[in-house]
Amino acid sequence: MSEKTAIRLENLSKTFGRGEKAVQAVVNLNLEIQTGQIFGFLGPNGAGKTTTIRLLVDLIRPTKGAAFIYGQDVRRNPGVLRRVGALVEDATFYGYLNGRDNLEVLARTAGNYRPKRIEALLEQVGLAGEANRRVSSYSTGMKQRLGIAGALLGDPELMILDEPTNGLDPGGRQEMRAFIRGLAKQAGVTVFLSSHLLHEVEQVCDRVAIINHGKIVREGVVSDLLAEGQAQLRVQASPQESALQVLQETWEVPIDGEWLIVSAPPEEGHLVVARLVTNDIHVHQVIVRKRTLEEYFIDATQEGVITKSIGGNKEDTHV
Ligand SMILES: Nc1ncnc2c1ncn2[C@@H]1O[C@H](COP(=O)(O)OP(=O)(O)OP(=O)(O)O)[C@@H](O)[C@H]1O
Ligand SMILES: [Mg+2]
Repeated sequence: MSEKTAIRLENLSKTFGRGEKAVQAVVNLNLEIQTGQIFGFLGPNGAGKTTTIRLLVDLIRPTKGAAFIYGQDVRRNPGVLRRVGALVEDATFYGYLNGRDNLEVLARTAGNYRPKRIEALLEQVGLAGEANRRVSSYSTGMKQRLGIAGALLGDPELMILDEPTNGLDPGGRQEMRAFIRGLAKQAGVTVFLSSHLLHEVEQVCDRVAIINHGKIVREGVVSDLLAEGQAQLRVQASPQESALQVLQETWEVPIDGEWLIVSAPPEEGHLVVARLVTNDIHVHQVIVRKRTLEEYFIDATQEGVITKSIGGNKEDTHV
């Protein structure tokens, strides 16, 4: 395996507890993340994101399988974690110390205390003005930013961030996204981040894996995943019953209220319309609607259930 691979998960599994109470938090994860990427690990609450990240940074032991960073099994060669900066759920600091002193403690513990580096990082994460305040008085967002600064102390090649925008307001989220992009594009840091926010992953990440109930349900380039999901052809026609009958001869046609969702590619729109018209069915509206990542995500995590949201979407385009 070359250094091109930053992270590799091999059948990584974690079960908490035993017997009837056992929780399979992570099940047979296989994943490869190349250096230079910003990789999004996307999933709803309880999907297994934090568990995976804790396994990755050797905070817990896998039940089965292994996590490799730069080719090293993190359990056997935890030294490789010196190349990693991590922000795991609930980063803890000493509340009675100020921000700067907390970073100093972290740096001294890791044996790389450089005062100038700390000042630069405080500046970089926007905490320079708050560095003398006790951390107990920090907002969640400020603590989150201090956590990022802490993770950057050792000049990591790989950053592993568990929901880095958690607790930030919209402005803070935007700043954090820009910051993460900057890390990757300017400093060449590989980033693995988890999130339950789709548009966030869409905006920041090159690739994404969707995790649900401890399993990876999809993985790929964000734009490819969306393309794979395809656009929807939505038809309003009356009588709806007859329209349904006619279209079902050729296509699968789930119903969404007044809309028939025709499983035809958009370029077959004219065929759909022609079929209806030649059967004396009134066609009121035909629209092509691109799926948003949100809908894609819901589909992926609900194993193919079609979403019920309709109308008024900015991405609607008329045939
Ligand atoms: N220490 C533990 N003991 C028992 N069960 C656990 C433990 N840690 C996590 N779990 C369970 O494992 C599953 C995955 O949890 P995990 O925290 O990895 O999810 P997550 O994707 O990070 O969710 P969230 O978005 O809420 O942070 C959940 O069902 C959770 O209850
Ligand atoms: Mg979590």
